[in-house]
Amino acid sequence: MNIFNKIVVGTLPLVPKPVVRKFANRYIAGDRLEHAVETAKRLNDKDIMGTIDVLGEDVLNREDASRAKRDCLSVLEAIDKHRLNANQSIKLTSLGLKIDLDFCLRNLTEILKTARSFNIFVRVDMEDSSCTDDTIKIFEESHKHFNNCGIVLQSYLRRSCDDAVNLIKLGANFRLCKGIYIEPEEIAFKEKQEIRDSFLKILRLIMESGSYAGIATHDDYLINGSCKIISELKKTPEQYEFQMLLGVRENLRDKIIKNGHRMRVYIPFGTHWYQYSIRRFKENPQMAGYIIKSIITGGK
Ligand code: FDA
Repeated sequence: MNIFNKIVVGTLPLVPKPVVRKFANRYIAGDRLEHAVETAKRLNDKDIMGTIDVLGEDVLNREDASRAKRDCLSVLEAIDKHRLNANQSIKLTSLGLKIDLDFCLRNLTEILKTARSFNIFVRVDMEDSSCTDDTIKIFEESHKHFNNCGIVLQSYLRRSCDDAVNLIKLGANFRLCKGIYIEPEEIAFKEKQEIRDSFLKILRLIMESGSYAGIATHDDYLINGSCKIISELKKTPEQYEFQMLLGVRENLRDKIIKNGHRMRVYIPFGTHWYQYSIRRFKENPQMAGYIIKSIITGGK
């Protein structure tokens, strides 16, 4: 990111929310579940699978966490009712990870039970490093009773290779991504190439073990590297999938599908769109400039 974009990103909290929302629209399906359903249908028509996420995180009271759980249950019902080719992604802090682990586990268990009754898979997203141990703990406990759930590893974390080795032993189903949160150098790789090398190293471990891999990236280097591993290990398309975020690099997405790989798109929706959108802007080198231009020109 150049200095101009860094400055703009730093001032994003000062940008009026309606302006942020205008630019966030490409990354989120909308405020309501029906928007996510429409988006999933549209993607399914193009042979793209979905993973629906109710936006929300860092919930600090039980009422909100219970509400988030009910929202997740509504997503599962909608996936079943509309026969969507989609699963669900969940952030455990929305279910009370930071309030009480047992409470969070009970919420996730209820979701997994319902998901299992509909034959739907649930992916537990990985949040910042203050949540890693507890997220893995809850995943491991859930995985003892439910095989319809999977975990996420972040290649920027120095620990992720060891986590992969341990979780492979349990037969976990993985999504592998670079990681989006800002972490200290002691625990996280900072150099672009180190993060990429770690990604491909972990992916190779996962794929050699025969575990399922969701390859979540828009980085050409990683997509090419992943394709090499896939072809070297003679993997068939049902043993892995590529994953991308809604609104990001759609041409590349189409190219990957054309080459015979399966693709799943992350479909976030809901009224808690702000934090998610700000994270997306930080990843998009051009976005900062667009936002400033829009403020200066009044959106014209
Ligand atoms: P990189 O950021 O280098 O992007 C490669 C190229 O893609 C960029 O040069 C740009 O062209 C384009 N691009 C990337 N982001 C863009 C954006 N927002 N807007 C426009 N263009 C963009 N992280 C995490 O910590 N926990 C998690 O659970 C998840 N879950 C998850 C699910 C899925 C399906 C995906 C695709 C990603 C995640 N992530 C995540 C986010 C992930 O960790 C990472 O931050 C982003 O995928 C960006 O990294 P890339 O590998 O795409 O590379």
